[in-house]
Amino acid sequence: MTAVLPDRALLRDWRTASTLPALAEVYRQLHGLAPVLGTPWQAVLVTGHAACRELLTDPGTWRVPDAADFQRLCGQAEADRPARHGVNQTLFHLNGTEHTARRRVLAPFFTPRALAARTAVVDNVVRATVRDFADRVVGEGVADAVEHLAGPIAGTVMCSLLGVSPRDQDFITRMAADLSFVEELAPRPSHLARADAAITELYDYAGRLIRTRAYRPDGLLAYLLNWADSGQEAHDEVVRVLVLMITAGVSTSISVLASTVLALCRLPGLDSPPAEFVDECLRWDPPAHMVGRIAERDTTVAGVQIAEGTLAHVLIGAANRDPAAFAEPEVFSPGRTQTRSLTFSAGPHYCLGAGLARLQAIQLVSAWREGAAGLTVAEEEPPRMTGPNFRHLRRLPCSADHRFLIGS
Ligand code: HEM
Repeated sequence: MTAVLPDRALLRDWRTASTLPALAEVYRQLHGLAPVLGTPWQAVLVTGHAACRELLTDPGTWRVPDAADFQRLCGQAEADRPARHGVNQTLFHLNGTEHTARRRVLAPFFTPRALAARTAVVDNVVRATVRDFADRVVGEGVADAVEHLAGPIAGTVMCSLLGVSPRDQDFITRMAADLSFVEELAPRPSHLARADAAITELYDYAGRLIRTRAYRPDGLLAYLLNWADSGQEAHDEVVRVLVLMITAGVSTSISVLASTVLALCRLPGLDSPPAEFVDECLRWDPPAHMVGRIAERDTTVAGVQIAEGTLAHVLIGAANRDPAAFAEPEVFSPGRTQTRSLTFSAGPHYCLGAGLARLQAIQLVSAWREGAAGLTVAEEEPPRMTGPNFRHLRRLPCSADHRFLIGS
């Protein structure tokens, strides 16, 4: 069977939907067509939860797009750009034994034990930032939870993981914002230029850190510098891991923390256990809506024939709203147990930082309930990015209701 092609209007709405209800409607219509769909650009859109899972967990048939794929699909000029080149060297775009070996190097920093050792630090960062944020709202009347709450938490936690000064968190969050464009579908030239500039800044930053030994002995950078030989190899490895960690873990965490605040202010389930509340936020409003895979050979998914070399857009955001996997997917309902969302992907590229990302958000829910529950979101429809991959909240202005002001 050949793939059904959604009409152009639906594909346009998919690319440009600027609110979650509009996007949910697009996903509903895509699910009504088929779990695997065609596109005018000869890729396939995989929308069904079971089909997405199948692609993500079968590395024998589906690989992540590597440098050669980008060259074939986007042309030499784009593949040669510093940002593309930098991101292509990270785990995101490696396959097989090279991927396994490099992932193994980082794994000790992400075990349950390592996470448990980090819990107190994350808890302190989250509580202090929530307190400062509530004070700022009271003092200024309105404050942006993306800039003053989610950004500082995600940036400071990343600094702590890397073992660099918490004063670098502004720099880290700015680099994350600029680099994340590389993983958007068909990024704009102006966005790619920002990502290229960010790579150059990260090279300089890594060089400075190494020269001045401005890193803690228990952080990820010190560990890598012990592990790599020396000189250029060590420098390149530090840059590779900085690019990976910053691209993978900062904007995504900011997005989840901001959408968790929005859910705390607007959605039901406030008395549910924090972990259940967060898992539903992750399903409902995932930071990344799609990942790419390439067919290693001719294959069939959900009855659709797919030729070797085909690019598949695995729509994890759509999978999270698949009615075949989640009863009443449009209802925000903490405590769902039937299926896991694909927000952190699945298979060999399953997110290494999933535990850390969940921990930040769970502690935010607890700290918010204790110290900021009287804050509200001051804008009816806070604006979002409208790429098909990233739909992050751009800002989330919060104000205090009068009971909070009287109590403070
Ligand atoms: C809520 C926040 C986060 C979300 C939604 C998220 C999501 C994802 C997804 C979907 C992938 C897989 C990409 C693929 O299958 O092609 C991934 C990979 C990865 N994530 Fe996360 N991530 C988050 C936070 C983090 C954090 C905080 C870190 C690190 C501190 C991190 C580190 C990584 C790494 C290293 C990979 C690459 C794994 C590999 O390719 O083997 N992530 N993440």
